[in-house]
Amino acid sequence: MDANNATAAGVAVDLQTYLLRHETKDLLRFITCGSVDDGKSTLIGRLLHDSKLLFDDQLATLESDSLRHGTQNGEIDFALLVDGLAAEREQGITIDVAYRFFSTEKRKFIVADCPGHEQYTRNMATGASTADLAVVLVDARKGLLTQTHRHSYIVSLLGIRRVLLAVNKMDLMGYEQGVFDAIAADYRALATQLGIDEVVCIPLSALRGENVMQRSATMPWYAGASLLEHLETVSLDRTKADVGFRLPVQWVNRPDQNFRGFAGSIAAGSVAVGDEIIVHPSGRRSQVARIVTADGDLQRAADGQAITITLKDEVDISRGDVISAARKPPEVADQFAAHLLWMSDAPLLPGRPYWLKTAARTVAATITEIKHKVDVNTQDHLAAKRLELNEVGYCNINLDQPIAFESYADNRALGGFILIDRQNNATVACGTIDFALRRASNIHWHNLEIDKNARAAIKGQTPLCLWFTGLSGSGKSTIANLVDRRLHALGYHSYILDGDNVRHGLNKDLGFTAEDRVENIRRVAEVARLMADAGLIVLVSFISPFRAERRMAREMFAPGEFAEVFVDTPIEVCEQRDAKGLYAKARAGEIRNFTGIDSPYELPENAEIHLLNVDASADALAQRLVDQIVSR
Ligand code: ADX
Repeated sequence: MDANNATAAGVAVDLQTYLLRHETKDLLRFITCGSVDDGKSTLIGRLLHDSKLLFDDQLATLESDSLRHGTQNGEIDFALLVDGLAAEREQGITIDVAYRFFSTEKRKFIVADCPGHEQYTRNMATGASTADLAVVLVDARKGLLTQTHRHSYIVSLLGIRRVLLAVNKMDLMGYEQGVFDAIAADYRALATQLGIDEVVCIPLSALRGENVMQRSATMPWYAGASLLEHLETVSLDRTKADVGFRLPVQWVNRPDQNFRGFAGSIAAGSVAVGDEIIVHPSGRRSQVARIVTADGDLQRAADGQAITITLKDEVDISRGDVISAARKPPEVADQFAAHLLWMSDAPLLPGRPYWLKTAARTVAATITEIKHKVDVNTQDHLAAKRLELNEVGYCNINLDQPIAFESYADNRALGGFILIDRQNNATVACGTIDFALRRASNIHWHNLEIDKNARAAIKGQTPLCLWFTGLSGSGKSTIANLVDRRLHALGYHSYILDGDNVRHGLNKDLGFTAEDRVENIRRVAEVARLMADAGLIVLVSFISPFRAERRMAREMFAPGEFAEVFVDTPIEVCEQRDAKGLYAKARAGEIRNFTGIDSPYELPENAEIHLLNVDASADALAQRLVDQIVSR
């Protein structure tokens, strides 16, 4: 056994002992908000030092590793927590949240400690999503700062209803009651605005340990609890509206023909053998036959427990489905309004597809509209076309398939989600669902009696979308026109959608910002799809500079029906030709956001056809395309 394994084994033993000893105590999860300057580290250090620190995050990681490798010990609270972290690590981003565990005679605690650097918002959101309470630190010398507003806003957004305001460094303000009272009053006003129900303000000095563990004689005017006393006694009442039983299915357990179990952690409510259930989104009904756990069958199980259930009927259920109480099912929809906290350097662009991951499922999603963004200092609603790093927006979201969900206010597990970039798999946002939008849900697809194939057949052709992409002046339109002319001469029915033309009609409200280009491509791709559906050969000639939207366009078509044509002309050549004089204007600063100059062109990675347009004639390139189309 090497040193690491020895440590891991040691931890497992420690953890077992710890869990047994503390099984009966309840657990408070909290997060600390504030910067190093506010004394956050000192405060946490003191709590850990003066209470009984059992193991730090590093050991917890080891513990998670041992769990992953199959040891079936451990209490779910910890495992879930660590699992959550591991999931994020697999997303390829580092979330610097150190989860620290400590306990006193009365309670055990998990504190999510987020370092106060520039990625703080993301880290904090991660820590806050499971917390019962937030400790917000302010420096008595400074009072509420911008970051106090920001952190408190995120705390309220993520559904934490209890805040402990720690007014630190009272020693530097002569322990004056007036200083404390003024800050406490300011904070209470802010909390009311944010809908934070329960605020307790405590004057303290983390450095001197005053009012941290014990009450201090230096502030006799303060009659309340010390910080630790409050943490030990604050109500843990987590009961929310009765949302009913919810089990997001994490895996289907089917060891043999006779057993078919659906495993997961109960996200809300409780379940008993014999209960009527509904499976979402399929809507199938059945009854609970057994509730199976590692320690044998149960008659009943509740919120937070990891279980496997079996049903009385053969119901088709897959990973990501949600099993719920029949008497109170969750909503199922494919559009909803939600708050988003944007956590990526690249802005959120409405219309761009992202992955949306909830407790249950990962589906494709686009933001159809940013209703407003929120000024976190004033809670003012501001108009916005995009969201930048750390901004919060209220948005409409559209999914490519319905999911079962709950409003975040009712159920954090089914109401919270993250958005993932489809190119690099980074987590770009976290969000909270507000309510479902009933838009397309009452509009059913109308099946047309004459379908695409029938329409194409009378033209004697197969529908196709040739998607030309390339810089302005690269020759896309010239080549597309030649192709169109030849196809026409050969008796094919084709049509050109050209950026310059479509921008005079359908898309005349759009400019050249990234968000407008996304929308430009989304609309033209939809039109191209309709034209292919009408049986046509569609030639789309748009710069279409972003990979994400070219991919979106591709996914709208049946396999083999879409071909990306990269008209690859070096920018020097385009600029030298400059038929429209636009490069000159862009260089002179008269046109902004010009592709290749101050707006990016993302090179195609998997274009079906690559036309290197340097020495070749447009005629020859067009002929190559026509030959390929005809030979289909
Ligand atoms: S796209 O990027 O949204 O796909 P699109 O193909 O519709 O662009 O329009 C590009 C055409 O608009 C160019 O051929 C050029 O004639 C003109 N144009 C005007 N301003 C710009 C700009 N800032 N960037 C690129 N093209 C521009």
